[in-house]
Order: sequence, then structure tokens, then C-alpha cells
Amino acid sequence: MTTTVLVVGSGAREHALAKTFLRSQQVDRVLVAPGNDGMTDAGLERFDVALNDLPGLLALAQAQSVTLTMVGSEEPLVLGIVDLFRANQQQIFGPSKVAAQLEGSKSFTKDLLLRHNIPTAQARVVDNLADAQAVLAEFGAPIVFKLDGLALGKGVSVVHTVEKANTYLNNIYAKSADEKLVIEEFLDGVEFSIFSLVGENGVVHAPIAQDHKRLNDNDEGPNTGGMGAYSPVRWLDDDVVQQAITTLVEPSIAAMKADGTPFTGILYTGVMLTSKGPKIIEFNVRFGDPEAQVVLPQLESDLYELLTDLLAGQQPQVNWQTQNVYLGVVLAAPGYPVAPEKGLAVPNVKNVDMIDYAGVKLVEEQLMTNGGRVATVVSHAETASQAQENVYAAIRASQTALHYRHDIGYQAVNAEKEI
Ligand code: AMP
Ligand code: GLY
Repeated sequence: MTTTVLVVGSGAREHALAKTFLRSQQVDRVLVAPGNDGMTDAGLERFDVALNDLPGLLALAQAQSVTLTMVGSEEPLVLGIVDLFRANQQQIFGPSKVAAQLEGSKSFTKDLLLRHNIPTAQARVVDNLADAQAVLAEFGAPIVFKLDGLALGKGVSVVHTVEKANTYLNNIYAKSADEKLVIEEFLDGVEFSIFSLVGENGVVHAPIAQDHKRLNDNDEGPNTGGMGAYSPVRWLDDDVVQQAITTLVEPSIAAMKADGTPFTGILYTGVMLTSKGPKIIEFNVRFGDPEAQVVLPQLESDLYELLTDLLAGQQPQVNWQTQNVYLGVVLAAPGYPVAPEKGLAVPNVKNVDMIDYAGVKLVEEQLMTNGGRVATVVSHAETASQAQENVYAAIRASQTALHYRHDIGYQAVNAEKEI
């Protein structure tokens, strides 16, 4: 029998997923829908079906006799692609529509965590200005406001003074008088994420990765989807990670099961290490982008086998490399995240492990920018400092005019200097 995998999505994360399946001994064909023009690796087949066209994706999977579908981005998951595929006997790795609310609905998540006594920020859900102002009076500043629902990272505001918080609330409720808002106490500390591959009876935790969400060097500028990442994060104590797994991640998986909405798929737990121990900031229901681009190359086991074992209710044996640090820098179109410029040349960066492409378009044999984040350039070395040097030497040599940060991995590089 031919083994065929379908990867759903069009970003650099999906490019990395597709390449990881290409490495699998068990996989004969790797399909991507819709993919992008940079996905030209030998053996990759692209199909022009949009990632929110669920019937179209099902039809594609059936027509191509797909054996396993893996979804990269949240939108199809929140729309219910997993329920649709399962109802049609198509094997798919991801959460059901109800379970995907862990990312899609901040109020669903808060309710779950508070009912099951899982450590997280104190929070109130409000839907009018007067109640919001009352919560502000109770919590004080700094304070965190989260619009309910999927907001692609733009729905969260950390506000540092009561005055600015009042301005924020007045603006929100002037636009929409019954806006549903989750208001949270501000958590101070070190932030990290845990990626867990969750099956019905098994779970595999990936090496920790650190993202850099701000647009510019020194963590300045607006928030973005992520401008670069590295993994593993050696300066983070193994005990702290283990504590976060046993006090946050495992109880959350158990809570979803106990509530009759079991979670399968990739669980991305955003953790804040506070002075009172680790607490959950948020969940996502898919790999991070660009974190996936530095985590997946570390997998020494077979991704197809790993996911199908998890779907079959087994606990897989998995190996990740530990000798090297993988570091990825995102190239973005100037103007990202507000108004990315289209039609600029995208370089073919040489002498790196990998370039995972995202918002690109092929015009007369040249890749051009066609979106915000354009590519992730990944290299590895025994130290973060060396991996950082490798990536930046390669990007500089390409003489690109695209925007990128020059300090990805700085915390790891600083930690190495202290030893
Ligand atoms: P989220 O979309 O929930 O991950 O929020 C985006 C970012 O806002 C997080 O990565 C944190 O840096 C910050 N953030 C969210 N919630 C809190 C909180 N309760 N306290 C402090 N920072 C937060
Ligand atoms: N890099 C953060 C995210 O994927 O949400």
C-alpha cells in the first residue's frame, strides 16, 4: 500500500512539516495544500486547495488516497476539519472542533483551568464597559486584556497604567458595546512554551523552543507571529520544565478528558515562570511558527510512525537530538506586520541547513515577497553562539533587503558567555 501524507497550510511551519515527512522511511508521497511557490523540494506535491476549504480538503484527501493528514495552522482546526475527516474515515492528527477551543476561545480555556485548579492568571470575563472598569479597579495595573476568539496574536494587550487601561476600554466599548473581553492579572516572569504531541493514551513532549515575538532587535517594536526561534533552551532548568509538565500540561490534558472533550493533536502551552511557580498564559492547538522550524529537524524518530502510534492509542518511543542548538531567523517583507511590501526579491540563502518558505510567489523564475513573513533560515551548531553566527553570516552574504532581527537567540548566547 502507498503511504501518502497531506500537510495543510502554506507557511514556513508547514514547509518544515512537509520536509520532516519527506525524511520518513514509511512515507511514499507528501502532499501540501495549498503550500507556496517556495515548496519545490523533490517529492513534494502541491495542490491548490485553500486551508479553510474543508470540503475541498476532504475531497483531495479522498481522491489522492491520503493515509494521514496533518494540519499546520489553527484556522482549519477551529473550523472543525478533524470532525469532518473523522466522520469520513480519513485519518487526521489534530484536535476536534470542541477541543480546538483551547486556542479558539480564551473564555473556554479560562473556565477549564479555573474549574480544574490548574495554575493560571486570575481572570474575569466581561461584556460591557461598567463591568470591565470594575475589574480594572479590582486588579489595578499592569493588566492584560484579551479579545475572545481567534485574533492571530493581535487580540492581546498588556497595559501598564490605569490611565492607558481606561483609554483601551473606552475605545473597545465605543466600537462594540457588548464586546466579550477576558481581563487577566499581569504575570511577571520568564516565558517559555512547551510543545506536546498528544494521543488518546500517550504524549510526547518536544524539546523546548524560545520564540522572539517583537519585530525589532532588543525586543522592541510591535508584536508579530514570531521573528525567530532556537531550541533546545539549555539555560532553562530541566526541573522547571518537568514541573511545568506535571503541574500544567498533564493536568490540562486530563481535564479535557474528564470533561468529555479529549484533546489529541499538538498542544502548545505558553508558560510564565513566576515567583509562585509556573502558570499557564495560553494554549495553542498547533505547532508554533517559527518554533516548528527549529524543533522538527531535531526529531531522530519517524514523524509518521510517531503520529500514527499516538492516534492508535500507543505511547511511542521517540528520540530527539541533544548535541546541537538549532536556530532560525525569519526574513520578513519590509512593512510587516502592518503593510508588507510585495514584489521584492527573496534570496536563496546559501550554506544553511534549511530555508522554509512562507509568503512568497514565483515571478519569472524569481521568488518574490507575497506576504508578511517570507522565510525562516535555519542552521545548527554545538553552541547557540555558533549557530547564530552561521545563520547571520549566510543571511548577510545574500545581501537581502528583507527585514530580519539581528539578535535571535541572544538569551542563550548571553547564558553561554556566563559559563
Ligand atoms: P497570548 O496570545 O495569550 O499568548 O498573549 C500574547 C503575549 O502576551 C504572551 O506571549 C505574553 O507575553 C503576554 N501575556 C499574555 N497574558 C499575559 C499575562 N496574564 N501576564 C503577562 N503577560 C501576558
Ligand atoms: N510563534 C508563535 C506562534 O506560532 O503562535
